[in-house]
Amino acid sequence: LVGAGAVVGITGFASGATVGRLTAPAAPAADGAPSPVADARDSVPFDGIHQAGIATPAQANLVLTAYDLGPGAGRAELAAVLREWTKAARALTAGAPVAADPQISVGDPAALTVTVGVGRALVVRLGVTVPSAFVDLPPFAGDALDPALSDGDVVVQLCADDPLVLAQADRVLTRLAAPHLTPRWQQHGFGSTGARRDGTTGRNLMGQLDGTNNVTTSQSAQDGPVWVNEPAPAWLAGGSYLVVRRIRMLLRDWDALDTSRQARVIGRTKDTGAPLGSRDEAAFVDLEARGADGSLVIPADAHVRHAAPRSAAENMMRRGYSYRGQLASDGEVDQGLLFLSYQNDPTTSFIPVQSRLAAEDALSAFTVTTASAVFAILPGTGDESGWLGAQLLS
Ligand code: HEM
Repeated sequence: LVGAGAVVGITGFASGATVGRLTAPAAPAADGAPSPVADARDSVPFDGIHQAGIATPAQANLVLTAYDLGPGAGRAELAAVLREWTKAARALTAGAPVAADPQISVGDPAALTVTVGVGRALVVRLGVTVPSAFVDLPPFAGDALDPALSDGDVVVQLCADDPLVLAQADRVLTRLAAPHLTPRWQQHGFGSTGARRDGTTGRNLMGQLDGTNNVTTSQSAQDGPVWVNEPAPAWLAGGSYLVVRRIRMLLRDWDALDTSRQARVIGRTKDTGAPLGSRDEAAFVDLEARGADGSLVIPADAHVRHAAPRSAAENMMRRGYSYRGQLASDGEVDQGLLFLSYQNDPTTSFIPVQSRLAAEDALSAFTVTTASAVFAILPGTGDESGWLGAQLLS
């Protein structure tokens, strides 16, 4: 058993985890010395053995789009789109003009990352090996899924600190995909709840610090919980699996609880994020601790009790974002968490953890999951001669 809150760190990542400052030649300052900050641009390297946007500290904003392959389009058309996307993503992430689409100029790429994956049904249609870990999620109690907002053949996760950069990148990629790939659904997120670049933990729309006990992004090990390793088929080695869950929060009910009750639902205090019974956010989560009256300090139905990994195989890296949609027919804004997790095997991590949460988590009374998907995230390009999907489609 890995103790509650155990985190399998990721060390020695190959790419995508750092945000570099690309400093363009700067205008001389008044005293004639070049200014080191003028024109500085935040850029995350696109090429590497893993795609960026996974072990990359979470940027502020997200646009997540699923596409379907159109009728009559097959392997050759998909390969053509992925080659164009690779070239465009390489340019956009460096803040350079996109040769195929001069409408868009980016300038500062604001730490843009472009991360591409494929759905299971597409992989089956392509006739390549489908790994046993690549399964559709089973139904979970409490799900109310909208099929139109779920699944898809291809996914693109765009993250950046500037939503304008995301809008531009989305326009370029969607245009380059036509007519072979058509958008199926799109989700917009803000306020990342995963580990952030400044090292702090973000708050979600329930007001909690979310992401404290997460797999770290500052390290990345080939044998950690995120990357798919051999004996995976070559088209996936170095990739990952992305689980997407659009979880609406029932905030009217949640806000009716006082903060001490809210803390017992999660197992952590709302203000500092400390585990109940401790003072610091970073304190060990002691699931065995009992108070003077013999009762569990962290309640039997607390979220962290059932979410905490019970073996190393259950670890996943959460990289979620808040979302706010439209006013719904019940008179409340549809808002909540775009839960995103990266893991090397959803059958040993997300699925058993979510099964426990659906059955025993007090938080379930305040959420409803309205969309769901799993994608295999392709390996990185390697270097500038590579393209995303080369192993899958050549
Ligand atoms: C922990 C909120 C859904 C997995 C936490 C924490 C909060 C939280 C506040 C404590 C801080 C932290 O360690 O990050 C939420 C909310 C959810 C939600 C508001 C839905 C709206 C999920 C789902 C999963 C999940 C669907 C996975 C199936 C985890 C894990 C931890 C955690 C693995 C760390 C537990 C530990 O090791 O201590 N969550 N969560 N959460 N959550 Fe969630």
